Amino acid sequence: MCGIIGYTGNEPAKDILINGLKQLEYRGYDSAGIAVLDPKTGIILKKKTGKVEELAKAAESESTDASCGIGHTRWATHGGVTEGNAHPHRQGSVTLCHNGIIENYKELTTEYGLKNVLQSETDTEVVAALLDKLYEGDPYTAIKKTVNLLAGSFALCIMFDDQPGKIFAIRNVSPMVAASFDGGSIIASDLTAVINFSKKYFVVPEYHILTLTDNGIGVQDLKGRDVEPEILEVNWDITSAQKGGYPHYMLKEINEQPEALERTVAPRVQDGLPFLADDGIDDEILKNLQNIVIVACGTAMHAGMVGKSLIETKLRIPVTVEIASEFRYKDPIIDDKTLTIVVSQSGETIDTLEALRLSKQKGSKVLSVVNVKGSTIARESDYVLYTHAGPEIAVASTKAYTVQIAAMYLLAARLGFVRGVLSEEETKEFISKLQGVGEIMKKTIEASDDIRRVANHIQTAPDVFYIGRGIDYTLSLEASLKLKEISYIHSEAYAAGELKHGTIALIAEQVPVIAIATEEHVYAKVISNVREVKSRGAYVILISQEGKVENKEVCDKQLYIPKVDSTFGVFATAVILQLIAYYTSDAKGLDVDKPRNLAKSVTVE
Ligand code: M6R
Repeated sequence: MCGIIGYTGNEPAKDILINGLKQLEYRGYDSAGIAVLDPKTGIILKKKTGKVEELAKAAESESTDASCGIGHTRWATHGGVTEGNAHPHRQGSVTLCHNGIIENYKELTTEYGLKNVLQSETDTEVVAALLDKLYEGDPYTAIKKTVNLLAGSFALCIMFDDQPGKIFAIRNVSPMVAASFDGGSIIASDLTAVINFSKKYFVVPEYHILTLTDNGIGVQDLKGRDVEPEILEVNWDITSAQKGGYPHYMLKEINEQPEALERTVAPRVQDGLPFLADDGIDDEILKNLQNIVIVACGTAMHAGMVGKSLIETKLRIPVTVEIASEFRYKDPIIDDKTLTIVVSQSGETIDTLEALRLSKQKGSKVLSVVNVKGSTIARESDYVLYTHAGPEIAVASTKAYTVQIAAMYLLAARLGFVRGVLSEEETKEFISKLQGVGEIMKKTIEASDDIRRVANHIQTAPDVFYIGRGIDYTLSLEASLKLKEISYIHSEAYAAGELKHGTIALIAEQVPVIAIATEEHVYAKVISNVREVKSRGAYVILISQEGKVENKEVCDKQLYIPKVDSTFGVFATAVILQLIAYYTSDAKGLDVDKPRNLAKSVTVE
């Protein structure tokens, strides 16, 4: 939800800001803008609707060597996609960009008589106008007074006309990281825009005012005390956040899954057993919990559903999976015997974060499965199990999903072991199978030609249905989300036995039905359901384990995962489903990595 950046230093800022925005573009791509503060001529502002490339073209003719500036790439919330609503916003001597939502912008507009000065429809411009009104030459005081009036989430980068070479920043909830290095200081919504300059960085603490200069970054709390932020070091480099020869990030990230899985699982295995002590996850909490609630959004929630299926069937512990945006408003039934597991790639999804806070209020311990180190969700959790997917840039989540599932498997194994549900031998066997899935995923990726043919077939379909049972049903939900989000084809996922309770009315000649049947114990049941749709004219694509060959009466096309224990088929099947969505989107000529209306990190409700 919007990417922001600020740079001040010895180099001309314009290109640094635009290149940084290209890295941040996956956070939002409705419009983009930059403002540089030229000590000779003042503020130069450039904004453009569309992607950052449009801004880059528009800014080409702008020759300035100003070395201090801010930039923004927008995912629209308040006000349409217009140049006027694009950031940075300027009021009087204040120029700023914002990520988040100011909930009381209407009240502030009325109370401070700002209506006549506002030119856009955004909540952000109200902050700029308020700051300008309260500014009397001391940025710290004006920022403090302003943020004390704001309700909502914000990450703000601010320049004042009479403070050349300086950027001020403050945040609540919305993320920002910052770094100073030889030659300047940089601040951005995430590390992808910072890592080119420094591998050492800090997470901007909430409600602290930062002053960035070419000589370093000052951090003060709202009582005026200097604060030393904790310096972190990033363990990947910028090449991980580039396409590396692939046509799209999504395809690169699908291919990276075996290594991501290895990075996530291998360090947590000792003598063949799952080992989570280095992550600070003590066995007591696992032994004593009575039930588990998994809370997340979108793909992360689908990973949680796989976790539920596994933990309930193998360990007999009750698990509920909750959509975070529902959970936070429904007074959930949880207490200190509940372990809440929150799952989030970004660690910044606002609904998931608020769900975490609610769980803690109700006395539940919170364990988060998070990919981004130092993110808000990670910092606020009692325990963190980091996935090591590396940066995921494509909006459609792929490698983050399979490593989240791997984290669930690790947790389940440790849970089963410490509770005595799984013997040492059974636990070791489980872990050894988990460590084998990387190879199986590799083989599945290598055999992708058939998958491409399936994608070519379905690319013109108005609707696609996915069906499956058990874990395969949870995979269907994720597959359907993936197809919808990047190919814009309407799709639905159903528990295979459920179709005949209504939806089968939609099955007509040649409607594609993708049936997932990788679990041995329900294979025959799914095949019966497949026959039901096939006999009504559906074009059936069956995904099963190698060796399960079906004739034309059952399906039109078969895709196989290598032979594997049913519990572990999920990883390879996920690859097939991701590739179907990827190739379909690509065949339609769509922007695979940046699907319309979406953004990578959802920091608004
Ligand atoms: O960063 P998170 O894992 O918390 O994000 C949750 C969802 O927004 C995310 O999984 C989304 O559904 C995917 N990008 C879809 O591919």
